[in-house]
Amino acid sequence: MSVKFYQSENQVPLEMHKVRMIQKLSLLPVEERLKKIQEAGNNTFLLQNKDVYLDMLTDSGVNCMSDNQYAASFQADDSYAGSATFLRVRKAINDVFGCEYVLPVHQGRAAENILAEAFCGPGKVAFMNFHFTTTKAHATRVGSTVEELIQPKGLLPKSDEPFKGDYDLELLKKRIDEVGASNVAYVRVEAGTNLIGGQPVSLENMLAVTDICHDKGCLSILDASLLQDNIYFMKTREARCKFMEVGDIYRLLADHFDLIYFSARKLSFSKGGIITTKNESLYKQLMGYIPLYEGFLTYGGIDVRTMESMAVGLYESLDMEYISQGPEFINYLAKELDAYGVPVILPPGGLGCHLNAGAFVPDMPHNQYPAAAVGAALYIAGGIRGMERGTVSEQREPDGTERYAELELQRLAVPRRVFTLSQLKYVADRVKWLWDNRSLIGGLEWTEEPEVLRFFFGRMKEIGHWQEELAEKFRKDFGDSL
Ligand SMILES: Cc1ncc(COP(=O)(O)O)c(C=O)c1O
Repeated sequence: MSVKFYQSENQVPLEMHKVRMIQKLSLLPVEERLKKIQEAGNNTFLLQNKDVYLDMLTDSGVNCMSDNQYAASFQADDSYAGSATFLRVRKAINDVFGCEYVLPVHQGRAAENILAEAFCGPGKVAFMNFHFTTTKAHATRVGSTVEELIQPKGLLPKSDEPFKGDYDLELLKKRIDEVGASNVAYVRVEAGTNLIGGQPVSLENMLAVTDICHDKGCLSILDASLLQDNIYFMKTREARCKFMEVGDIYRLLADHFDLIYFSARKLSFSKGGIITTKNESLYKQLMGYIPLYEGFLTYGGIDVRTMESMAVGLYESLDMEYISQGPEFINYLAKELDAYGVPVILPPGGLGCHLNAGAFVPDMPHNQYPAAAVGAALYIAGGIRGMERGTVSEQREPDGTERYAELELQRLAVPRRVFTLSQLKYVADRVKWLWDNRSLIGGLEWTEEPEVLRFFFGRMKEIGHWQEELAEKFRKDFGDSL
């Protein structure tokens, strides 16, 4: 139940936790920010954190741990094999998902690597509601093709559709029949669909996907990395979930999907990753990969202290007071920007507030990378580091042509339990200033373009001198303010 304010016009999301450890931040003057983003090749991944005021790059591995998570980490049992820590993680997975078989991996993409090795290959199609960068890279690396079967509503930047991550069920059936079930690597549902703005999938749609898979004999996989946000949206937007316990939703999903994996850098506010199932033969098929790529079966490349905090964090992800904080802060920021006319993805999803860069700089051609340009401009405007989720985050087609993203987004992640509301107000203020000065934002061009996952390491430069002009305008408008 949310807390009502006496004066309803002052209603804001209220944290049900308090801060007990802090990290000092600094905000560089705008002239320094200009220099730093250019030195970083206009790639926010290449900025040093000391030069960033608000790090909104990701919600991955940067969520704030609770007192209980830290306390648990001290009881870690540091043994190579048979560690008691693993038993506590396995119990947490049993309690939360009801799954018996648990394989630890060092992070989400390590699970994707193993699933690609086990199920993908030439001639095999991996179906997804939408791809995630690392999922697609692993599936295609071993020769599979990836097909996205999201409903058209998922790609509308602004709508009141509550579940934009939903699969197109008819298309899924049709494509399985066309491809042939034996050529389907797996059917993957990504909860809290990352690249379209952290948009949720309804419970009804997830269960319908698993029914289709069982009917047709295809493997169903749930990427549960963003499931806690997704469950918040199920509880608040889907009638049948309103009176369900959060834990009942986790267990219902685990009853239906063949396999579940997640990045614990998101789900459980810790680090590491997990593959889990109720199916013994799938477990046996996958277990051999763990010692090969990750580490022994009881630690999977994860530090045992982290595993202890993961176990506690999993129980915390059953608590609506914890899992509502991220989505409610994001909602606050997105609504604030929308009211000013700034184009943001609506309805707001989980993990972050997404600026619709395509509409922010509508005249900029795709091949000048609007989402990356808005990101560089925002760092200059406020020392805020977001992440490009547009064409730069795509892979080129095998023939080298550019694959333009359906949506050009600049993502402002809101790590869970980290920022204060005044910091989000600052973000809104600087984004509004940038919106009012959007005519100054120009494009970018490659100076170094790696072949694989180019968004991590690639470098770009401004076309013309728009960044200097933007910094000058900032100085003029803000005087001697940082
Ligand atoms: C939906 C989804 N799946 C998988 C991953 C990969 O997880 P990790 O970053 O732990 O490798 C991510 C990471 O952001 C994600 O958002």
